[in-house]
Amino acid sequence: MDIRNAITERHSVRQYKPIPIDENLVTELKEFIENCNAESGLNIQLICNDPECFDVFLAHYGKFTNANNYIALVGKKNIANLDETAGYFGEAIVLKAQQMGLNTCWVAGTFGKRKCKAKIAKDEKLVCVIAIGYGENQGNVHKNKPLEKLCKADLNTAPDWFKEGVDAALKAPTAINQQKFVISLEEGEAKITAKGGAMTKLDLGIVKYNFEAASGHKVR
Ligand SMILES: Cc1cc2nc3c(=O)[nH]c(=O)nc-3n(C[C@H](O)[C@H](O)[C@H](O)COP(=O)(O)O)c2cc1C
Repeated sequence: MDIRNAITERHSVRQYKPIPIDENLVTELKEFIENCNAESGLNIQLICNDPECFDVFLAHYGKFTNANNYIALVGKKNIANLDETAGYFGEAIVLKAQQMGLNTCWVAGTFGKRKCKAKIAKDEKLVCVIAIGYGENQGNVHKNKPLEKLCKADLNTAPDWFKEGVDAALKAPTAINQQKFVISLEEGEAKITAKGGAMTKLDLGIVKYNFEAASGHKVR
């Protein structure tokens, strides 16, 4: 599965099969995560076979079942743009997982923060987690805001790579599907900015990754 297909196929999945992730896939994922950590300076951790983190009232409310594996997005508090960086590299891992036949769901609210088994030093912060495993389903396509709210460029005259990027950005997960971002084309370069509000910086990193992965062009 190429990255554009992975972007299209990915939807949040909250119900998982009660089976552990294949050992070879765990090894491959851990390697990928270590590369992300080396590049970003983050301390992202994969935690497997821990039924407690999602065993909270909120998680049931959020309808998670058998969410026994998760990726903890941890990083030093003093990293510039910690949330955006976590979003960017977290989405890289999410799409890698999708290509490996696994399903995921970004989770910032409906999990037990204190029950999370990640190792978090005093100068580090747990940004959020991503549930991962074999889905009972493949999730659903989310609704988009009207295109003119999300993209301020004229797509009739924009280059193909830009259109590919916009398409992938619209498919990106955002907290409560808020899609609080604006994409523009300035001097031949794509620019994506976040509107204010909770988790919009985290969303921004996710959206930028999708845009870059599909278009092959760096976002400003
Ligand atoms: C930063 C972030 C935080 C999220 N937090 C939660 C959460 O706490 N609980 C939950 O059930 N879904 C959570 N989601 C999943 C979103 O609701 C979901 O991505 C969005 O509705 C779009 O749907 P899709 O991922 O299927 O495309 C979160 C997503 C993001 C990007």
